[in-house]
Amino acid sequence: MNGNLNPTQQPGEESIELSLRPRRLSEFVGQRQIRENLSVYLQAAQKRGEPLDHLLLYGPPGLGKTTLAHIVGAEMGVGVHITSGPAIVRAGDLAGILTNLEPGEVLFIDEIHRLPRPVEEILYPAMEDRKVDVMLGSGPAARSIRLEIPPITVIGATTRQGMLSGPLRHRFGIDFHLEFYAADDLQRILIRSAALLGYDLADDGAEEIARRSRGTPRIANRLLRRVRDFAQVAEEGTITQSLTQHALGQLQVDLAGLDRVDQLYLRTIIDKFSGGPVGIETIAASLGEDTGTLEDVCEPYLLQKGFIMRTPRGRTATTLAYDHLGLTPPSNGQLPL
Ligand SMILES: Nc1ncnc2c1ncn2[C@@H]1O[C@H](COP(=O)(O)OP(=O)(O)O)[C@@H](O)[C@H]1O
Ligand SMILES: [Mg+2]
Repeated sequence: MNGNLNPTQQPGEESIELSLRPRRLSEFVGQRQIRENLSVYLQAAQKRGEPLDHLLLYGPPGLGKTTLAHIVGAEMGVGVHITSGPAIVRAGDLAGILTNLEPGEVLFIDEIHRLPRPVEEILYPAMEDRKVDVMLGSGPAARSIRLEIPPITVIGATTRQGMLSGPLRHRFGIDFHLEFYAADDLQRILIRSAALLGYDLADDGAEEIARRSRGTPRIANRLLRRVRDFAQVAEEGTITQSLTQHALGQLQVDLAGLDRVDQLYLRTIIDKFSGGPVGIETIAASLGEDTGTLEDVCEPYLLQKGFIMRTPRGRTATTLAYDHLGLTPPSNGQLPL
């Protein structure tokens, strides 16, 4: 779908993202608190001649977790080895990766909440004491030996804070929670991206795209590429606000940056469950969507926009959601807002 607002990386998007990805901390826009603190931690580690402490990055997809992991590598002048929770099946696989790292290197584990438990247990002593237990042989003759590994930095990324085990969470010395981006930060990202792509993006054009990008750089860059196609066909040298409005209208991205799934989600709560509260499993079943996808992809933004509330009894739609969809909220005072 053209107006795809799913913030997870889409097939074919890798190479373009690579070319737009900021390489150094100074190019990383927004997330001021994280940038400032990370800069201090990096300088301190360099002065001590040690690797950066283990770092955990939380946040919805598309906000810059992978980008930050690469930036840490670049700033420290070390290599970054990339893997992910679901990619490491056996404990031995992780032991193999750990024992092959060079001193100071970064091991980036994306979706770290999906590491199998036995694999997670290899990680604990590695992060804490730089020790890896390796099994030799099998069956009754099997024995394990402890190997020392060089000092490294483990960077974990997760979209689900709640799904990370306590013991794992506590082994990270630093954790950062990435927030949705303010519109003016997205605007700066868009202007930088447009320049890299060789397009002239007017300020008001950037503002329009930023407003509809659900606080997410990945979506902003994706919408920019689609709007650019419209500019190309219209033979417009500059991407203006009116061209942007036309293009985003064609792509069915609404004024608050909600896509079709978000709108269906809200309509389900409102039309089928009288505004809620209704459990997430029920909403997911009704939409034919996966619960995890709704929790990772739709809900963080709808919550942030104040369109839904999460209560112990389930999700409810707020009056803002009714207003946004052009509906009249029930007047029986049941709504939370
Ligand atoms: N702070 C930022 N400044 C500029 N571009 C960014 C920033 N954060 C993310 N991006 C852009 O968004 C894209 C997605 O970021 P990424 O780090 O892959 O997100 P995540 O790993 O959190 O899903 C990157 O290719 C990059 O171009
Ligand atoms: Mg990523």
